[in-house]
Amino acid sequence: MAVHGFTVSKKHVLSWTLLIVVLQSVVGGVRLERWESVIQLPTQVDEAEDVDTQVATRWAVLVAGSSGYENYRHQADVCHAYQLLIKGGLKQENIVVFMYDDIANNDLNPRPGVIINNPQGPDVYAGVPKDYTGENVTTENLYAVILGDKSKVKGGSGKVINSQPNDRIFIYYSDHGGPGVLGMPNLPYLYAMDFIQVLKKKHASGGYKEMVVYVEACESGSVFEGIMPTDINVYVTTASNAQESSFGTYCPGMDPPPPPEYITCLGDLYSVAWMEDSETHNLKRETVNQQYQTVKRRTWNLNNFGIGSHVMEYGDSSIKDERLYMYQGFDPDTLNFPPDNGRQMEVVNQRDAEIFFMWQLYKRSENGGEKKREILKQITETVKHRNHIDGSVDLIGTILFGPAKGSSVLKSVRESGMALVDDWECLKSKVRVFETHCGSLSEYGMKHMRAFANICNSGVSEASMEEACVAACAGYTAEEWHPSNRGYSA
Ligand SMILES: *[C@@H]1O[C@H](CO)[C@@H](O)[C@H](O)[C@H]1NC(C)=O
Repeated sequence: MAVHGFTVSKKHVLSWTLLIVVLQSVVGGVRLERWESVIQLPTQVDEAEDVDTQVATRWAVLVAGSSGYENYRHQADVCHAYQLLIKGGLKQENIVVFMYDDIANNDLNPRPGVIINNPQGPDVYAGVPKDYTGENVTTENLYAVILGDKSKVKGGSGKVINSQPNDRIFIYYSDHGGPGVLGMPNLPYLYAMDFIQVLKKKHASGGYKEMVVYVEACESGSVFEGIMPTDINVYVTTASNAQESSFGTYCPGMDPPPPPEYITCLGDLYSVAWMEDSETHNLKRETVNQQYQTVKRRTWNLNNFGIGSHVMEYGDSSIKDERLYMYQGFDPDTLNFPPDNGRQMEVVNQRDAEIFFMWQLYKRSENGGEKKREILKQITETVKHRNHIDGSVDLIGTILFGPAKGSSVLKSVRESGMALVDDWECLKSKVRVFETHCGSLSEYGMKHMRAFANICNSGVSEASMEEACVAACAGYTAEEWHPSNRGYSA
């Protein structure tokens, strides 16, 4: 078994090396080129003095849904967003931050107490409020915070979005995701329909005038596709469409690289695209739509090699004509920055970022050392777990739909505009049955949500699902991946 595991991880490391060599040689030729005058100038309108009177209070909810140093970038994104909003004039009491807070003081952090989100960027950690950290970063708390329901909040600062009918709310979420779900460091994950229900409830209670939601995660479009209402005054953009990854950037060995002492990616492509855009434009002039267009271009990353994603939009598009200032505030200093119109960025698929990180750690550890062996073991275990998850989902498909159709049923993508699944409770229960017999899906396994959704859409009964999972995972001992350790993801 150990020998087998070694082979798997060695192969993986090799393929990584190859990939990086290929990237470097292909990207090398164009990487310094900047976008050429593709950016529209902000509409030349007078700075509206009356804008102030239109904005009652601006609120924001910032969520980093992961933990672990390998996921440095999500918390870096969120800290950066906090600083941007504060500079824009939002008040700390109106911004609620969810972050696990295990990065700044992590043993692996080369700059203790500091988090950066750009290779040349300043510290973005100092001053970020610890509203919901560690065990208190939960989906339940997020919902209670958005709804302004202090009584439902468990732990944390107790700060909630206590907004009034004329207020505006900005929500920004950066994390791993999968079809229909967004990650959370404490389980369960956020399921799309629950989140939409929370937005509807907030709207029904007159809790805001308008809201803008930005989401960075793999398959983030699927959280809104087919279920996001257009009549609750919420406009959403997502880093990717319903069936593709989103990408980490400022990663070791890539261009642009982080400072050499960093072994982890500093940011995510869509996230740094919107923040670096906001920081270099007059947000009293730039509209929500202009930012959407700019971010879309940058996140598509001149998609020459399939390393960029499609930024998507959902909800009430009338909000697009508004100026960003209404949500992100206005920092007079931004007027002095030259616009950074974006450049091609080397990136890593969010799902590979974990192994990419471990491999960086492996490469930099002393040869023959105990630590190197330990990391190799971790890489091996992680890849084996991934193979186990992939293999069992495949096998379940075969058992349920037969060898000829299994794979195509599980992978089938509904036409755009249709929700991932008709019955969201069914999706959760199928996930729980799977995890009971086959172990936790983990961050990586979120990618199989579409398979479970399709199992639901095909009307498979609970009993048949149970039978298939028992058969597919017979003899498997979940050990650290057992749901009794961290709970069920649904
Ligand atoms: C969670 O919240 C409780 C109550 O505010 C607090 O005592 C605890 O320290 C928090 N946990 C973390 C990890 O911040």
